Amino acid sequence: MTLNRSKQTTRSRRGRLGALAAATLAAAVVSSVAVNTAGAEESPDEGAEAAQAKVDNPYEGAQVYVNPTWSANAAAEPGGEAIADQPTGVWLDRTSAIEGNDSPTTGSMGLRDHLDEAVAQGADVIQIVIYNLPGRDCAALASNGELGPDDIEAYKSDYIDEIVAIQGDAAYADLRIVNVIEIDSLPNLITNVSPRETATDNCDEMKANGNYEDGVSYAVAELGALPNTYNYIDAGHHGWIGWGDTNEQYDNFHASAELFGSLIGQNGMTADHVHGFISNTANYSVLEEPYWAVDENVGGQPLNQNPELPWVDWNDFNNEKDFTEAFREELVSNGFNDDIGMLIDTSRNGWGGDYRPTGPSSSDDPVTFVDESRIDQRFQKGNWCNQAGAGLGERPQASPEAWIDAYVWIKPPGESDGASEEIPNDEGKGFDEMCDPDYEGNIRNGNNPSGARDDMPISGHWSSEQFQELLENAYPPL
Ligand code: BGC
Repeated sequence: MTLNRSKQTTRSRRGRLGALAAATLAAAVVSSVAVNTAGAEESPDEGAEAAQAKVDNPYEGAQVYVNPTWSANAAAEPGGEAIADQPTGVWLDRTSAIEGNDSPTTGSMGLRDHLDEAVAQGADVIQIVIYNLPGRDCAALASNGELGPDDIEAYKSDYIDEIVAIQGDAAYADLRIVNVIEIDSLPNLITNVSPRETATDNCDEMKANGNYEDGVSYAVAELGALPNTYNYIDAGHHGWIGWGDTNEQYDNFHASAELFGSLIGQNGMTADHVHGFISNTANYSVLEEPYWAVDENVGGQPLNQNPELPWVDWNDFNNEKDFTEAFREELVSNGFNDDIGMLIDTSRNGWGGDYRPTGPSSSDDPVTFVDESRIDQRFQKGNWCNQAGAGLGERPQASPEAWIDAYVWIKPPGESDGASEEIPNDEGKGFDEMCDPDYEGNIRNGNNPSGARDDMPISGHWSSEQFQELLENAYPPL
């Protein structure tokens, strides 16, 4: 599955947007930086004693673990050496990945193998993706997982508890373990549920049974209680929950932050268990649109209040930087600590190459202006699967902005988001038409073509062709 992020949705068409709040948004939240936050609760494990207090930004000055499995795949590609030493996320995408399951998706290394190897590399930070919720990826099919909608007890005891036991081992006390918590889960409970027309049966079911909230709060509380872990909860991306002040019916922005805040108190989860949030995981949304502002006036009205402009469609944002800055503030006002930091997955949001514009369009027609000015080349922001034309984005780096702890590569470049056609498999992966290049879309992507590459394997499996295109269209260029 991929990340399916996008699954987005929603577009609103009415709007009283008002001056959105450019000002408010911009109001910078300044950040971070205080000293630590995260709670230093004592772990029951032996690791507690050796551990240091949590630092404000685990990435600052840190050497980040390079996953040898991904690195070998990258290095085997022509030109791949240029990035084979970059840190990428280690996905625990099913229970057997904890032990190591020799699958083409995750390789043969289990969690302990990765942690041991991180210690051997002398790394300070390792990035683990917690991704196995019951009824996973409810708005898409390409990354449905092994656990059924009601399998919450198995999630807690066979998956989370096992990971906690390993991460809490004293042997790893000196590593800062970043846990990226459950991609593509909670925002679905806002955007893809009834009575919205974007609802799916699976998301309605997950909302009704409460198992996303139960699972995420349990994972955050249990993992966050260890002395050297750093939880970053997945927060979608601007093209999914960037609709805020436009109208009440489609307010994804405030509603999502409120939903995250409502987890505090569940399963013993506290604000101190949350170090921050991550946006754009495995997605393609840009860091910034250099040639146009979302509230710029073109053709007589602001772009974000133009009913004839599908690319913007009343979204309050056109990029991840502005979105994360504003969403961070919104999370703080919903109970999270005021020094939380944001991560942005920049693995595939570069959009370089021949089609990248080099300046703003001179057109005064709003649609032409945006289409000629934007660097994000998707048909629509709800497109999430193997986007043709994408390139690597910013290389992983710490503290690029005051409110951003790091740009990270959580989705390992070259790994598929989903199969282009149905491929039988034993990983619980379905076939999602959003990965079929010929698919003409559905309400969740505004009935646009999928924009997906052809001939792609099931999610998580390697695609040389996609990897090569990402290298070629990298921005900044390699
Ligand atoms: C897949 C996982 C995979 C991850 C990283 C997800 O879309 O469902 O199996 O590990 O991507 O490539």
